[in-house]
Amino acid sequence: MLADKDRIFTNLYGFQPWNLDAARQRGDWEETAALMAPGPDALIDVVKASGLRGRGGAGFPTGMKWSFMPKAPNPERPSYLVINADESEPGSCKDREIIRHDPHKLIEGALIAGFAMRAVAAFIYIRGEYIREAETLFAAVREAYAAGLIGKNACGSGYDFDVVVHRGAGAYICGEETAMLESLEGKKGQPRLKPPFPAGVGLYGNPTTVNNVESIAVVPTILRRGAPWFAAIGRPKNEGTKLFQISGHVNTPCVVEEAMSVPFRELIDTHCGGIRGGWDNLLAVIPGGSSVPLVPAEQIIDCPMDFDALKDLKSGLGTAAIIVMDKSTDIVRAIARLSYFYKHESCGQCTPCREGTGWMWRVMERLVTGDAEPHEIDLLLEVTTEVEGHTICALGDAAAWPIQGLIRHFRPEVEARIARRKGFVQVPQMLEAAE
Ligand SMILES: Cc1cc2nc3c(=O)[nH]c(=O)nc-3n(C[C@H](O)[C@H](O)[C@H](O)COP(=O)(O)O)c2cc1C
Ligand code: SF4
Repeated sequence: MLADKDRIFTNLYGFQPWNLDAARQRGDWEETAALMAPGPDALIDVVKASGLRGRGGAGFPTGMKWSFMPKAPNPERPSYLVINADESEPGSCKDREIIRHDPHKLIEGALIAGFAMRAVAAFIYIRGEYIREAETLFAAVREAYAAGLIGKNACGSGYDFDVVVHRGAGAYICGEETAMLESLEGKKGQPRLKPPFPAGVGLYGNPTTVNNVESIAVVPTILRRGAPWFAAIGRPKNEGTKLFQISGHVNTPCVVEEAMSVPFRELIDTHCGGIRGGWDNLLAVIPGGSSVPLVPAEQIIDCPMDFDALKDLKSGLGTAAIIVMDKSTDIVRAIARLSYFYKHESCGQCTPCREGTGWMWRVMERLVTGDAEPHEIDLLLEVTTEVEGHTICALGDAAAWPIQGLIRHFRPEVEARIARRKGFVQVPQMLEAAE
Protein backbone atom coordinates (compact mmCIF):
# COMPACT_ATOMS: atom_id res chain seq x y z
CA MET A 1 0.00 0.00 0.00
CA LEU A 2 1.26 3.50 -0.82
CA ALA A 3 2.52 5.41 2.23
CA ASP A 4 1.12 8.91 2.71
CA LYS A 5 4.63 10.35 2.43
CA ASP A 6 4.86 8.95 -1.12
CA ARG A 7 1.71 10.61 -2.41
CA ILE A 8 2.21 13.08 -5.25
CA PHE A 9 -1.37 14.38 -5.40
CA THR A 10 -1.78 15.66 -1.86
CA ASN A 11 -4.89 17.66 -2.71
CA LEU A 12 -6.69 15.04 -4.78
CA TYR A 13 -9.94 15.48 -2.88
CA GLY A 14 -9.89 19.27 -2.78
CA PHE A 15 -9.69 19.58 1.00
CA GLN A 16 -7.41 22.56 0.41
CA PRO A 17 -7.79 25.33 -2.18
CA TRP A 18 -6.39 24.79 -5.68
CA ASN A 19 -4.91 28.27 -5.98
CA LEU A 20 -1.27 29.32 -6.24
CA ASP A 21 -0.76 30.19 -2.58
CA ALA A 22 -2.09 26.82 -1.44
CA ALA A 23 -0.18 25.01 -4.19
CA ARG A 24 3.05 26.68 -3.05
CA GLN A 25 2.40 25.50 0.49
CA ARG A 26 2.11 21.99 -0.88
CA GLY A 27 5.57 22.40 -2.44
CA ASP A 28 4.65 23.22 -6.03
CA TRP A 29 6.71 25.86 -7.87
CA GLU A 30 9.50 25.60 -5.32
CA GLU A 31 12.86 26.41 -6.93
CA THR A 32 11.55 25.36 -10.32
CA ALA A 33 14.40 27.16 -12.10
CA ALA A 34 16.88 25.07 -10.09
CA LEU A 35 15.12 21.89 -11.24
CA MET A 36 15.54 23.04 -14.84
CA ALA A 37 19.19 24.10 -14.40
CA PRO A 38 20.77 20.73 -15.34
CA GLY A 39 19.38 21.23 -18.87
CA PRO A 40 16.95 19.42 -21.17
CA ASP A 41 18.91 16.23 -21.78
CA ALA A 42 19.59 15.70 -18.07
CA LEU A 43 15.87 16.09 -17.33
CA ILE A 44 14.98 13.52 -19.96
CA ASP A 45 17.53 11.14 -18.43
CA VAL A 46 15.88 11.50 -15.00
CA VAL A 47 12.42 10.79 -16.44
CA LYS A 48 13.81 7.77 -18.29
CA ALA A 49 15.46 6.49 -15.10
CA SER A 50 12.23 6.93 -13.13
CA GLY A 51 10.54 4.34 -15.35
CA LEU A 52 7.51 6.60 -15.90
CA ARG A 53 5.21 5.14 -18.56
CA GLY A 54 2.50 7.26 -20.17
CA ARG A 55 -0.70 7.44 -18.15
CA GLY A 56 -2.96 8.06 -21.16
CA GLY A 57 -3.56 4.39 -21.89
CA ALA A 58 -0.79 2.87 -23.97
CA GLY A 59 1.95 3.02 -21.31
CA PHE A 60 4.69 4.21 -23.67
CA PRO A 61 7.88 5.21 -21.76
CA THR A 62 7.64 8.97 -21.25
CA GLY A 63 11.36 9.84 -21.22
CA MET A 64 11.92 7.91 -24.44
CA LYS A 65 9.01 9.72 -26.10
CA TRP A 66 10.51 13.07 -25.16
CA SER A 67 13.88 12.04 -26.59
CA PHE A 68 12.34 11.79 -30.08
CA MET A 69 11.96 15.58 -30.19
CA PRO A 70 14.59 17.61 -32.08
CA LYS A 71 17.66 18.47 -30.01
CA ALA A 72 18.28 21.64 -32.00
CA PRO A 73 14.85 23.00 -32.93
CA ASN A 74 14.57 25.11 -36.03
CA PRO A 75 13.20 28.60 -35.11
CA GLU A 76 11.08 28.36 -38.27
CA ARG A 77 9.50 25.17 -36.89
CA PRO A 78 9.11 25.58 -33.10
CA SER A 79 8.46 22.48 -31.00
CA TYR A 80 5.27 22.08 -28.99
CA LEU A 81 3.95 20.06 -26.09
CA VAL A 82 0.28 19.09 -26.26
CA ILE A 83 -1.32 17.93 -23.03
CA ASN A 84 -4.19 15.54 -23.44
CA ALA A 85 -6.99 16.43 -21.01
CA ASP A 86 -9.75 15.03 -23.20
CA GLU A 87 -10.49 12.17 -20.80
CA SER A 88 -13.52 10.72 -22.56
CA GLU A 89 -12.86 7.01 -22.08
CA PRO A 90 -15.85 5.61 -20.16
CA GLY A 91 -14.72 4.98 -16.59
CA SER A 92 -11.86 7.49 -16.67
CA CYS A 93 -12.10 10.42 -14.28
CA LYS A 94 -8.61 11.11 -12.89
CA ASP A 95 -7.31 14.00 -15.00
CA ARG A 96 -10.41 15.90 -13.95
CA GLU A 97 -9.38 15.58 -10.27
CA ILE A 98 -5.87 16.83 -11.01
CA ILE A 99 -7.16 19.82 -12.91
CA ARG A 100 -9.82 20.90 -10.49
CA HIS A 101 -7.86 20.41 -7.27
CA ASP A 102 -4.17 20.52 -8.21
CA PRO A 103 -3.86 22.45 -11.50
CA HIS A 104 -0.49 23.96 -10.61
CA LYS A 105 1.10 20.52 -10.59
CA LEU A 106 0.08 20.25 -14.24
CA ILE A 107 1.22 23.76 -15.20
CA GLU A 108 4.60 23.36 -13.48
CA GLY A 109 4.93 19.96 -15.16
CA ALA A 110 4.12 21.58 -18.51
CA LEU A 111 6.94 24.07 -18.10
CA ILE A 112 9.49 21.43 -17.08
CA ALA A 113 8.43 18.90 -19.72
CA GLY A 114 8.28 21.63 -22.37
CA PHE A 115 11.77 22.81 -21.44
CA ALA A 116 13.08 19.22 -21.56
CA MET A 117 11.74 18.93 -25.11
CA ARG A 118 12.88 22.43 -26.07
CA ALA A 119 9.25 23.34 -26.77
CA VAL A 120 8.12 26.96 -26.87
CA ALA A 121 4.58 26.34 -25.67
CA ALA A 122 2.17 23.82 -24.19
CA PHE A 123 -1.40 23.46 -25.41
CA ILE A 124 -3.71 21.85 -22.87
CA TYR A 125 -6.68 20.36 -24.74
CA ILE A 126 -9.49 19.90 -22.25
CA ARG A 127 -12.68 17.94 -22.79
CA GLY A 128 -15.60 20.24 -23.62
CA GLU A 129 -17.85 18.86 -20.90
CA TYR A 130 -15.29 19.78 -18.21
CA ILE A 131 -16.69 23.28 -17.81
CA ARG A 132 -15.81 23.94 -14.15
CA GLU A 133 -12.44 22.24 -14.58
CA ALA A 134 -11.65 24.46 -17.56
CA GLU A 135 -12.58 27.53 -15.50
CA THR A 136 -10.15 26.45 -12.77
CA LEU A 137 -7.44 25.72 -15.32
CA PHE A 138 -7.83 29.10 -17.04
CA ALA A 139 -7.63 30.83 -13.65
CA ALA A 140 -4.57 28.83 -12.58
CA VAL A 141 -2.79 29.63 -15.85
CA ARG A 142 -3.57 33.34 -15.32
CA GLU A 143 -2.12 33.12 -11.79
CA ALA A 144 1.03 31.45 -13.10
CA TYR A 145 1.50 34.16 -15.78
CA ALA A 146 0.92 36.95 -13.23
CA ALA A 147 3.52 35.45 -10.89
CA GLY A 148 6.11 35.15 -13.69
CA LEU A 149 6.11 31.34 -13.43
CA ILE A 150 5.32 30.94 -17.12
CA GLY A 151 5.64 33.36 -20.03
CA LYS A 152 8.86 35.34 -20.63
CA ASN A 153 11.78 34.18 -18.48
CA ALA A 154 9.59 31.57 -16.80
CA CYS A 155 10.48 31.25 -13.08
CA GLY A 156 13.59 33.34 -13.75
CA SER A 157 15.05 30.43 -15.70
CA GLY A 158 15.84 32.51 -18.76
CA TYR A 159 13.43 30.29 -20.74
CA ASP A 160 10.31 31.66 -22.44
CA PHE A 161 7.32 29.34 -22.32
CA ASP A 162 3.63 29.85 -23.01
CA VAL A 163 0.67 27.75 -21.87
CA VAL A 164 -2.56 27.81 -23.88
CA VAL A 165 -5.78 26.16 -22.70
CA HIS A 166 -8.06 24.94 -25.49
CA ARG A 167 -11.55 23.56 -24.91
CA GLY A 168 -12.77 20.64 -27.02
CA ALA A 169 -16.36 20.21 -28.11
CA GLY A 170 -17.07 16.78 -26.68
CA ALA A 171 -15.89 14.09 -29.10
CA TYR A 172 -14.15 10.97 -27.77
CA ILE A 173 -12.04 10.69 -30.90
CA CYS A 174 -10.37 14.03 -30.16
CA GLY A 175 -8.53 12.22 -27.34
CA GLU A 176 -6.59 10.31 -30.01
CA GLU A 177 -3.40 12.28 -30.32
CA THR A 178 -3.46 13.14 -34.03
CA ALA A 179 -7.21 13.88 -34.02
CA MET A 180 -6.41 16.25 -31.17
CA LEU A 181 -3.83 18.02 -33.34
CA GLU A 182 -6.38 18.39 -36.15
CA SER A 183 -8.94 19.74 -33.71
CA LEU A 184 -6.43 22.20 -32.22
CA GLU A 185 -5.76 23.43 -35.74
CA GLY A 186 -9.47 24.17 -36.07
CA LYS A 187 -10.28 21.21 -38.31
CA LYS A 188 -12.59 18.26 -37.92
CA GLY A 189 -11.15 15.93 -35.26
CA GLN A 190 -10.14 13.01 -37.44
CA PRO A 191 -6.96 10.98 -36.78
CA ARG A 192 -4.02 11.30 -39.15
CA LEU A 193 -2.21 8.43 -40.78
CA LYS A 194 1.11 7.68 -39.09
CA PRO A 195 3.94 8.01 -40.09
CA PRO A 196 4.82 10.84 -40.00
CA PHE A 197 4.67 10.80 -36.22
CA PRO A 198 3.89 13.97 -34.26
CA ALA A 199 7.51 14.29 -33.05
CA GLY A 200 8.41 14.94 -36.71
CA VAL A 201 5.24 16.54 -38.07
CA GLY A 202 2.75 17.51 -35.40
CA LEU A 203 0.79 20.62 -34.53
CA TYR A 204 0.82 23.08 -37.45
CA GLY A 205 3.33 20.71 -39.06
CA ASN A 206 5.88 21.26 -36.28
CA PRO A 207 7.56 18.77 -33.90
CA THR A 208 5.07 17.90 -31.16
CA THR A 209 4.74 15.52 -28.25
CA VAL A 210 1.33 14.61 -26.88
CA ASN A 211 1.19 13.50 -23.24
CA ASN A 212 -1.57 12.73 -20.80
CA VAL A 213 -2.31 15.10 -17.88
CA GLU A 214 -1.15 12.63 -15.22
CA SER A 215 2.09 11.85 -17.12
CA ILE A 216 3.00 15.55 -17.03
CA ALA A 217 1.70 16.39 -13.55
CA VAL A 218 3.93 13.80 -11.82
CA VAL A 219 7.14 15.11 -13.39
CA PRO A 220 7.98 17.97 -10.96
CA THR A 221 7.72 15.58 -7.98
CA ILE A 222 9.89 12.99 -9.73
CA LEU A 223 12.56 15.64 -10.25
CA ARG A 224 12.31 16.89 -6.66
CA ARG A 225 12.39 13.45 -5.04
CA GLY A 226 14.61 11.73 -7.58
CA ALA A 227 14.16 8.96 -10.11
CA PRO A 228 15.16 6.16 -7.65
CA TRP A 229 12.31 7.15 -5.30
CA PHE A 230 9.70 6.82 -8.08
CA ALA A 231 11.31 3.70 -9.53
CA ALA A 232 11.23 1.95 -6.14
CA ILE A 233 7.41 1.95 -6.16
CA GLY A 234 5.67 -0.86 -8.07
CA ARG A 235 7.15 -3.78 -10.00
CA PRO A 236 10.03 -3.48 -12.49
CA LYS A 237 8.89 -1.84 -15.75
CA ASN A 238 5.69 -0.78 -13.99
CA GLU A 239 7.05 1.85 -11.66
CA GLY A 240 5.59 4.74 -9.77
CA THR A 241 2.36 5.85 -8.21
CA LYS A 242 -0.88 5.73 -10.18
CA LEU A 243 -4.30 7.30 -9.97
CA PHE A 244 -6.82 4.46 -9.97
CA GLN A 245 -10.48 5.25 -10.65
CA ILE A 246 -12.81 2.58 -9.34
CA SER A 247 -16.46 2.64 -10.35
CA GLY A 248 -19.33 0.18 -10.47
CA HIS A 249 -20.31 -2.40 -7.90
CA VAL A 250 -17.99 -1.56 -5.03
CA ASN A 251 -19.26 -0.12 -1.78
CA THR A 252 -17.45 3.21 -2.10
CA PRO A 253 -16.33 4.09 -5.62
CA CYS A 254 -13.40 6.50 -5.64
CA VAL A 255 -10.33 7.94 -7.32
CA VAL A 256 -7.20 7.11 -5.33
CA GLU A 257 -3.45 7.37 -5.73
CA GLU A 258 -1.87 4.00 -5.04
CA ALA A 259 1.36 2.19 -5.76
CA MET A 260 1.47 0.72 -9.23
CA SER A 261 1.12 -3.09 -9.06
CA VAL A 262 -1.13 -3.01 -5.98
CA PRO A 263 -3.10 -6.30 -5.95
CA PHE A 264 -6.72 -5.88 -7.01
CA ARG A 265 -8.18 -7.27 -3.80
CA GLU A 266 -6.06 -4.95 -1.64
CA LEU A 267 -7.02 -1.93 -3.75
CA ILE A 268 -10.72 -2.66 -3.42
CA ASP A 269 -10.71 -3.63 0.25
CA THR A 270 -8.54 -0.70 1.32
CA HIS A 271 -10.17 2.10 -0.63
CA CYS A 272 -13.59 0.96 -1.84
CA GLY A 273 -15.04 -0.90 1.16
CA GLY A 274 -15.01 -4.19 -0.74
CA ILE A 275 -17.25 -5.59 -3.45
CA ARG A 276 -20.99 -4.99 -3.13
CA GLY A 277 -22.39 -8.19 -1.60
CA GLY A 278 -18.93 -9.58 -0.82
CA TRP A 279 -16.13 -11.10 -2.89
CA ASP A 280 -18.19 -14.13 -3.89
CA ASN A 281 -20.53 -11.73 -5.65
CA LEU A 282 -17.85 -10.44 -8.06
CA LEU A 283 -18.52 -11.36 -11.70
CA ALA A 284 -15.93 -9.54 -13.81
CA VAL A 285 -13.84 -6.39 -14.05
CA ILE A 286 -12.93 -4.05 -16.89
CA PRO A 287 -9.58 -2.94 -15.50
CA GLY A 288 -8.48 -0.07 -17.74
CA GLY A 289 -11.38 1.90 -19.15
CA SER A 290 -14.02 0.65 -21.54
CA SER A 291 -11.69 -0.29 -24.38
CA VAL A 292 -9.81 -3.09 -22.64
CA PRO A 293 -11.17 -6.66 -22.48
CA LEU A 294 -12.93 -7.68 -19.28
CA VAL A 295 -11.30 -10.12 -16.86
CA PRO A 296 -13.41 -12.65 -14.93
CA ALA A 297 -13.43 -12.53 -11.13
CA GLU A 298 -11.22 -15.53 -10.44
CA GLN A 299 -8.41 -14.17 -12.65
CA ILE A 300 -8.37 -10.59 -11.39
CA ILE A 301 -8.67 -11.03 -7.62
CA ASP A 302 -4.96 -11.53 -6.92
CA CYS A 303 -3.64 -9.74 -9.99
CA PRO A 304 -1.15 -6.87 -9.54
CA MET A 305 -2.76 -3.84 -11.14
CA ASP A 306 -0.12 -2.83 -13.66
CA PHE A 307 0.62 -2.77 -17.38
CA ASP A 308 2.38 -6.13 -17.68
CA ALA A 309 0.28 -8.25 -15.31
CA LEU A 310 -2.95 -7.19 -17.03
CA LYS A 311 -1.42 -7.72 -20.45
CA ASP A 312 -0.64 -11.29 -19.36
CA LEU A 313 -4.38 -11.68 -18.69
CA LYS A 314 -5.07 -10.51 -22.29
CA SER A 315 -6.40 -7.20 -20.99
CA GLY A 316 -4.65 -3.93 -20.09
CA LEU A 317 -4.15 -1.24 -17.46
CA GLY A 318 -5.24 1.46 -19.94
CA THR A 319 -6.05 4.53 -17.89
CA ALA A 320 -6.57 2.43 -14.71
CA ALA A 321 -10.29 3.16 -14.84
CA ILE A 322 -11.54 0.03 -13.12
CA ILE A 323 -15.17 -0.88 -13.78
CA VAL A 324 -16.33 -3.50 -11.29
CA MET A 325 -19.33 -5.69 -12.15
CA ASP A 326 -21.06 -7.95 -9.65
CA LYS A 327 -23.32 -10.90 -10.41
CA SER A 328 -26.36 -8.67 -10.89
CA THR A 329 -24.78 -7.42 -14.14
CA ASP A 330 -26.19 -8.41 -17.51
CA ILE A 331 -22.70 -8.83 -18.93
CA VAL A 332 -23.84 -9.19 -22.54
CA ARG A 333 -25.91 -6.00 -22.31
CA ALA A 334 -23.02 -4.16 -20.64
CA ILE A 335 -20.68 -4.97 -23.52
CA ALA A 336 -23.41 -4.23 -26.09
CA ARG A 337 -23.71 -0.76 -24.55
CA LEU A 338 -19.99 -0.22 -25.03
CA SER A 339 -20.34 -1.35 -28.65
CA TYR A 340 -22.93 1.35 -29.12
CA PHE A 341 -20.53 3.90 -27.68
CA TYR A 342 -17.78 2.99 -30.14
CA LYS A 343 -20.19 2.99 -33.07
CA HIS A 344 -21.35 6.44 -32.02
CA GLU A 345 -17.82 7.81 -31.59
CA SER A 346 -16.27 6.37 -34.78
CA CYS A 347 -15.14 9.31 -36.91
CA GLY A 348 -16.07 7.37 -40.05
CA GLN A 349 -12.81 7.78 -41.95
CA CYS A 350 -11.96 4.12 -42.39
CA THR A 351 -14.34 1.48 -43.65
CA PRO A 352 -13.57 -1.35 -41.18
CA CYS A 353 -14.31 0.98 -38.25
CA ARG A 354 -17.21 2.94 -39.77
CA GLU A 355 -19.04 -0.17 -40.98
CA GLY A 356 -17.62 -2.67 -38.49
CA THR A 357 -18.60 -0.80 -35.32
CA GLY A 358 -22.22 -0.58 -36.48
CA TRP A 359 -22.24 -4.19 -37.61
CA MET A 360 -20.76 -5.43 -34.33
CA TRP A 361 -23.17 -3.34 -32.28
CA ARG A 362 -26.20 -4.69 -34.16
CA VAL A 363 -25.11 -8.30 -33.62
CA MET A 364 -24.36 -7.55 -29.98
CA GLU A 365 -27.90 -6.22 -29.53
CA ARG A 366 -29.27 -9.48 -30.88
CA LEU A 367 -26.98 -11.49 -28.60
CA VAL A 368 -28.43 -9.64 -25.62
CA THR A 369 -31.85 -11.15 -26.35
CA GLY A 370 -30.50 -14.35 -27.89
CA ASP A 371 -32.06 -13.51 -31.26
CA ALA A 372 -29.16 -15.00 -33.20
CA GLU A 373 -27.86 -18.19 -34.72
CA PRO A 374 -25.09 -20.03 -32.80
CA HIS A 375 -22.62 -19.64 -35.70
CA GLU A 376 -22.92 -15.85 -35.45
CA ILE A 377 -20.77 -15.90 -32.31
CA ASP A 378 -17.78 -17.07 -34.34
CA LEU A 379 -18.71 -14.74 -37.17
CA LEU A 380 -18.75 -11.81 -34.76
CA LEU A 381 -15.40 -12.86 -33.36
CA GLU A 382 -13.99 -13.02 -36.88
CA VAL A 383 -15.31 -9.55 -37.69
CA THR A 384 -13.61 -8.15 -34.57
CA THR A 385 -10.30 -9.45 -35.92
CA GLU A 386 -11.01 -7.85 -39.30
CA VAL A 387 -11.51 -4.48 -37.59
CA GLU A 388 -8.66 -4.82 -35.07
CA GLY A 389 -5.37 -3.63 -36.52
CA HIS A 390 -6.91 -2.59 -39.84
CA THR A 391 -7.77 1.01 -39.10
CA ILE A 392 -6.08 4.41 -38.98
CA CYS A 393 -6.35 4.76 -35.21
CA ALA A 394 -6.87 2.52 -32.21
CA LEU A 395 -10.61 3.21 -31.91
CA GLY A 396 -11.17 0.18 -34.11
CA ASP A 397 -9.20 -1.97 -31.65
CA ALA A 398 -11.07 -0.39 -28.75
CA ALA A 399 -14.36 -1.42 -30.32
CA ALA A 400 -13.17 -4.98 -30.96
CA TRP A 401 -11.50 -5.82 -27.65
CA PRO A 402 -14.51 -5.67 -25.27
CA ILE A 403 -16.40 -8.09 -27.54
CA GLN A 404 -13.41 -10.43 -27.74
CA GLY A 405 -13.18 -10.38 -23.92
CA LEU A 406 -16.87 -11.21 -23.62
CA ILE A 407 -16.71 -14.17 -25.97
CA ARG A 408 -13.41 -15.42 -24.48
CA HIS A 409 -14.79 -15.55 -20.96
CA PHE A 410 -18.59 -15.66 -21.23
CA ARG A 411 -19.26 -17.67 -24.36
CA PRO A 412 -21.43 -20.21 -22.49
CA GLU A 413 -23.66 -17.35 -21.31
CA VAL A 414 -24.04 -16.04 -24.87
CA GLU A 415 -24.78 -19.53 -26.19
CA ALA A 416 -27.29 -20.17 -23.42
CA ARG A 417 -29.25 -17.06 -24.38
CA ILE A 418 -29.50 -18.19 -27.98
CA ALA A 419 -30.58 -21.65 -26.87
CA ARG A 420 -33.18 -20.24 -24.47
CA ARG A 421 -34.55 -17.95 -27.14
CA LYS A 422 -34.84 -20.80 -29.59
CA GLY A 423 -36.61 -22.80 -26.93
CA PHE A 424 -39.20 -20.05 -26.51
CA VAL A 425 -39.69 -19.82 -30.25
CA GLN A 426 -40.15 -23.54 -30.56
CA VAL A 427 -42.84 -23.84 -27.92
CA PRO A 428 -45.75 -22.55 -30.09
CA GLN A 429 -44.48 -24.61 -33.06
CA MET A 430 -44.42 -27.73 -30.91
CA LEU A 431 -47.92 -26.98 -29.72
CA GLU A 432 -49.04 -26.55 -33.33
CA ALA A 433 -47.43 -29.86 -34.25
CA ALA A 434 -49.09 -31.58 -31.30
CA GLU A 435 -52.49 -30.31 -32.46
C1 LIG B 1 -9.88 6.78 -29.52
C2 LIG B 1 -8.80 7.21 -28.59
C3 LIG B 1 -9.08 8.07 -27.52
C4 LIG B 1 -8.07 8.48 -26.66
N1 LIG B 1 -8.39 9.32 -25.63
C5 LIG B 1 -7.41 9.73 -24.78
C6 LIG B 1 -7.72 10.63 -23.72
O1 LIG B 1 -8.86 11.04 -23.52
N2 LIG B 1 -6.70 11.03 -22.92
C7 LIG B 1 -5.39 10.60 -23.11
O2 LIG B 1 -4.48 11.01 -22.38
N3 LIG B 1 -5.09 9.75 -24.11
C8 LIG B 1 -6.06 9.32 -24.95
N4 LIG B 1 -5.73 8.49 -25.99
C9 LIG B 1 -4.30 8.11 -26.17
C10 LIG B 1 -3.58 9.24 -26.93
O3 LIG B 1 -3.69 8.98 -28.32
C11 LIG B 1 -2.09 9.28 -26.58
O4 LIG B 1 -1.54 8.02 -26.74
C12 LIG B 1 -1.82 9.75 -25.17
O5 LIG B 1 -2.39 11.00 -24.91
C13 LIG B 1 -0.32 9.82 -24.95
O6 LIG B 1 -0.02 10.25 -23.65
P1 LIG B 1 0.95 9.44 -22.70
O7 LIG B 1 2.15 9.03 -23.51
O8 LIG B 1 1.31 10.42 -21.64
O9 LIG B 1 0.17 8.27 -22.20
C14 LIG B 1 -6.73 8.04 -26.86
C15 LIG B 1 -6.45 7.16 -27.92
C16 LIG B 1 -7.47 6.75 -28.76
C17 LIG B 1 -7.14 5.82 -29.88
S1 SF4 C 1 -10.42 3.77 -36.62
FE1 SF4 C 1 -12.45 4.69 -36.55
S2 SF4 C 1 -12.19 6.52 -35.32
FE2 SF4 C 1 -10.12 5.87 -35.96
S3 SF4 C 1 -9.73 6.98 -37.86
FE3 SF4 C 1 -10.68 5.06 -38.47
S4 SF4 C 1 -12.89 5.52 -38.59
FE4 SF4 C 1 -11.93 7.17 -37.43
